[in-house]
Amino acid sequence: MSEQEHTQDLPTDEELANMSREDLAILGARLDGVELVEYPDPWPVKGTRAEKRAERVVAFWFILAAIGAIAFIAVYGWWPWTYQNIGHQFLYNLYTPLIGLTLGITVLGLGIGVLTYVKKFVPHEVAVQERHDGPSSELDRQTVLAELSDAGVRSTIARRSLIKRSAGAAAGLMGLGLVIFPVGGFIKNPWSSALAPQDTLRFTGWYEADGPNKEKVFIRRDTGVPTEVALVRPGDMDAGGLQTVFPFRESERNDPEKLLAAMERVDNPTMLIRLRPEDAANVIKRQGQENFNFGDYYAFSKICTHLGCPASLFEEQTNRVLCPCHQSQFDALEYCKPVFGPAARALPQLAISVDEETGYFVALHDYIEPVGPGYWERGA
Ligand code: FES
Repeated sequence: MSEQEHTQDLPTDEELANMSREDLAILGARLDGVELVEYPDPWPVKGTRAEKRAERVVAFWFILAAIGAIAFIAVYGWWPWTYQNIGHQFLYNLYTPLIGLTLGITVLGLGIGVLTYVKKFVPHEVAVQERHDGPSSELDRQTVLAELSDAGVRSTIARRSLIKRSAGAAAGLMGLGLVIFPVGGFIKNPWSSALAPQDTLRFTGWYEADGPNKEKVFIRRDTGVPTEVALVRPGDMDAGGLQTVFPFRESERNDPEKLLAAMERVDNPTMLIRLRPEDAANVIKRQGQENFNFGDYYAFSKICTHLGCPASLFEEQTNRVLCPCHQSQFDALEYCKPVFGPAARALPQLAISVDEETGYFVALHDYIEPVGPGYWERGA
């Protein structure tokens, strides 16, 4: 349509005020140089079986999304979460897959519901439109709004309460599902006194049991065979050496499952380092941890405080522990504080001694700070 024709077709203010929504929509298309080749009513005959079926299909997807959102909230907040080794607790192993599955069903149901609704109920016009330069006039704005509103009215959303309710439930519950992320941490209580120490994230496998069950936590080295218990004594290591060690309790000696679990638990791996005598003389100890070492022997968590990789490369000449993931370096002569790379926190030090009865190394108590990357109970 030419600019001249465009101007000639403009309604007066009075005519504009009296035009219906549909008139405005058609006028808007015409003024924009849009030819509506097809503008069918999706359901010209109201209340047919096909229409009701389409409505139920749309509602089905929204209801599925709502159920998915409820399941997601329930799983995130209340599914068994205490630490268990992989392969030892079926319910625990399902936690992460269920989080993904329920959230996936929610997003999928909501997406398919919206797409199906648009496909079945929004008019599918076929139009050809010319491009215009410059800002839109008041007339254009009103007619465009009318077109959009007309599409909404023609889609009959106003009278489709089943779709509106199911879509509202799905969107609302999915929104609620997103709120569970920050709120979930308040539901799960890592401090719960109802949990045994080994079942909380507050402790590592080096925890010491209280009361009558208290028993020594020996230091065993990894021989590659989980059921083979190889305890470590001073003199078993050369100066300048490093061994990866794990906790061991006598009560677990004949329990292959517990022996394996101790080696699989992610916060257990610890580096037992024997410094060379000339280096040991230059050690700077951390305040409050002056007695954590035993002679030249020092034990540090092997879990990098950056992102949790095993930091197990020990450079004997410089006494630096290296993490291969992002090249953080920790100075073993200065309580393994980071001296290079992205790690910002020293590797936690395990307090060790030698059991007078047996002559083997023992841990005096659990780590006194969180192992690995920053964790939500830090400062405990
Ligand atoms: S995980 Fe060790 S440097 Fe990133």
